[in-house]
Amino acid sequence: VTAGAFTLEVNLSSSTFLEELNISKSDFPNDFIFGVGTAAAQTEGSPNEGGRGQSVWDYRAKILPDTIMNSDKFFSAVDGYKRYKEDILLIKDLGVNSYRFSISWTRILPNGSLSGGINQEGVDHYNSLIDELVKNGITPFVTILHFDLPQAVEEKYGGYLNRSFVDDFRDYSELCFKLFGDRVKHWFTFNEPRIIASYGYELGIAPPGRCSLPKDICVFKSPVPGKCFMPVGPCNLGGNSSTEPYIVAHNLILAHATVAKLYREKYQAKQKGEVGIVLVTPYYVPYSKSQEDQDAANRLFDFYLGWFMDPFVFGEYPKSMRELVKERLPEFTEEEKVMVKGSLDFLAINYYASSYAKNKPPSPNEVLRYTLDAAAEIIDGKDAPGLEHGNWPEGLEKLMNYIKDKYNNPKVYIAENGIAGVRNDALDLNVQLNDASRIIYVVRHLYRLNKAIKNGVNVKGYFHWALMDDFEWGMGFRSRFGLYYVDFNRNYTRIPKNSVLWFHNFLNGTYESD
Ligand code: NOJ
Repeated sequence: VTAGAFTLEVNLSSSTFLEELNISKSDFPNDFIFGVGTAAAQTEGSPNEGGRGQSVWDYRAKILPDTIMNSDKFFSAVDGYKRYKEDILLIKDLGVNSYRFSISWTRILPNGSLSGGINQEGVDHYNSLIDELVKNGITPFVTILHFDLPQAVEEKYGGYLNRSFVDDFRDYSELCFKLFGDRVKHWFTFNEPRIIASYGYELGIAPPGRCSLPKDICVFKSPVPGKCFMPVGPCNLGGNSSTEPYIVAHNLILAHATVAKLYREKYQAKQKGEVGIVLVTPYYVPYSKSQEDQDAANRLFDFYLGWFMDPFVFGEYPKSMRELVKERLPEFTEEEKVMVKGSLDFLAINYYASSYAKNKPPSPNEVLRYTLDAAAEIIDGKDAPGLEHGNWPEGLEKLMNYIKDKYNNPKVYIAENGIAGVRNDALDLNVQLNDASRIIYVVRHLYRLNKAIKNGVNVKGYFHWALMDDFEWGMGFRSRFGLYYVDFNRNYTRIPKNSVLWFHNFLNGTYESD
């Protein structure tokens, strides 16, 4: 199959696959937003420059370096703090009209709270970045917090576990509205609160690394049989995997709603912007036609998406969660329900893959942890062949339809969608730059997204993840998610992969598949 200037190898036995290559920009509404994304901790580096304070990821890289691949390199990330002007030109060359990035809380408030003082150098940095975007005709979409909580907030009162977090996050967000709201009109309060709760407080694989699980649980299996990429923990910093994730999520929901209320009351009329949140979920396909497996898929949607969406749309947690988690699930007061319900101007979704869901009642001797509460087994990776091992674009269309039907058709942005390449510096550079699989992935997902739009789903934009290769949290620099390649051995030089050229052609209307 030729796609623009590229020859793509596809499985010709699949007609769906071929059909999915048929999409062009003109199929989308005229005002549809195309963007790319990054996050501060994954790109900026320069942790000690410009008066920045320490984040929880800086702290983890220091105290538990073995839990992060190439943790020594984390402190440079991909040098984005210094190269932001150059990077904005990459966005411009790509041809997208919008850019999603995050603000590093500790560049603005080095110790997390207003009482510790505002860091003018940090403010200047983001002012300059935003001005540069506007100057180049690129619309900023800002994530207020993308995983890099100030370490001081963690140390002062236990971070997200404490209600005081809501106040500090409100103050920091308000400062962002005051400082940048004249030019920034699209705000995401949090990125993936479910991951904050689960990785940080259930599995212990992200800060603050609290958990209470046995050492031998493997979170991410290696393709080499018997090997584990990422085990839990180490769970030696305290924690309770069966209660803390729920408390953390509860405080994140309250913090989002508090900030949305504040924006509406004090800023929205003047600044005319919008506030939403970024949630992540796979699409869950029942493993069999049995009622049990269908119920299991519905429960998994509840525990992933409904955990947050049900409070935001209906004012309370999903019924299945209330029944299964019982007294470990915090409750909203009547006043909080009123504040939380309706607090999204839009929903942003990160979608990467689909999984099977199978009914699985917990056995009595299993360690109590929050993912088991859903009483379902998730089958993905090599065990999900009918779903192309998870890479199943149809799942995006189905997810969009699910959200439309269940949550009264909210306004949606796809905040992330993309595919990881495995880093192998030993390969010839041209081979590394030839990312045909990424091109196919994007084309097929755009095709499916468009079908959802034709079906009445209210999707307004698509942000590809990521602009360039970057720091992939615990996986370090092993995964290359970028459209642009970063040469880690040659001073972080950025080089366009083939997907940049493809995307550029698509956006110019010169991509046609035949
Ligand atoms: C989710 C996160 O928001 C982002 O930080 C991460 O790099 C991508 N997905 C890829 O895993």
